[in-house]
Amino acid sequence: MLVNSKELLTQASLNHYAIGAFNISNLETAQAVITAAHQTNSPVILQASQSAIKYAGLKPLVAMVKALTQDSELPFVLHLDHGPDAQLAIACIDTGFTSVMIDSSGEPWERNIAITQEVVAYAHSRGVTVEAEIGQVGGVEDNVNVDAAHALYTDPQQAADFVAATQLDSLAIAIGTAHGLYQGEPKLDFQRLSDIQAIIPQTPLVLHGSSGVPADLLKKAISLGIAKINIDTDLRLAFVNQLRQELATNPDSFDPRKLLAPARDAFSHKVIEKIKIFGSSRS
Ligand code: G3H
Ligand code: ZN
Repeated sequence: MLVNSKELLTQASLNHYAIGAFNISNLETAQAVITAAHQTNSPVILQASQSAIKYAGLKPLVAMVKALTQDSELPFVLHLDHGPDAQLAIACIDTGFTSVMIDSSGEPWERNIAITQEVVAYAHSRGVTVEAEIGQVGGVEDNVNVDAAHALYTDPQQAADFVAATQLDSLAIAIGTAHGLYQGEPKLDFQRLSDIQAIIPQTPLVLHGSSGVPADLLKKAISLGIAKINIDTDLRLAFVNQLRQELATNPDSFDPRKLLAPARDAFSHKVIEKIKIFGSSRS
């Protein structure tokens, strides 16, 4: 079944685990995440960015995820990742997404608040949850491209003011992670995370750019208040590396299913690995 993220993230926050939010863009990646959820007995968030929606089509994407999850006892969330404007967020809500991120973090303060308020009002009247961002996570992901000079760590007091002004459901914060591939070991500002958690203890916090972050750092972030962890790059790498291998070892094959199924399995195994780190399995 599809649900919004309210209860899942509240419970994760209270009980010190995190819900994985895994990026999907087609049938194979959606199947891979859902299979991993069942194998670990864990709720998960399937998230799609603007470019994934463009690739798959908004209505087909929603219909596919609904069809794949409707007979399951587990709760699944279908979430818009990095919604660039209110129009796309509203279109996703109208089509069946149960959660949206509005990412106006590159806008000036007042405008970020106004856009987020607009999306929150629309979403909440339809039972949909909203994530927004304050500060800016660096790196490149689809349509989001923030160079190191413009990456901006989240200020705790600003985070509190933003939450109070917008009444959002979860807050994406910038504490040193970056989208895409890391060069060198990521350094997370755990003091900043603690300060943010202390000032808005009721608000589930979201970590973006989490691929390539070692398990012990992710676990520490969870212990300090991170309730949702976004993973994209590590899954793409697992899928594409396996697909390359299949193409190399089966140069005569022209059946997409034979080539794609092992890539789908590799994607799923990576999701399982992350879920085990996040501690979200239901016993
Ligand atoms: O919004 C999605 C994530 O922040 C993914 O970041 O590609 O570094 O895992 P990642
Ligand atoms: Zn992100």
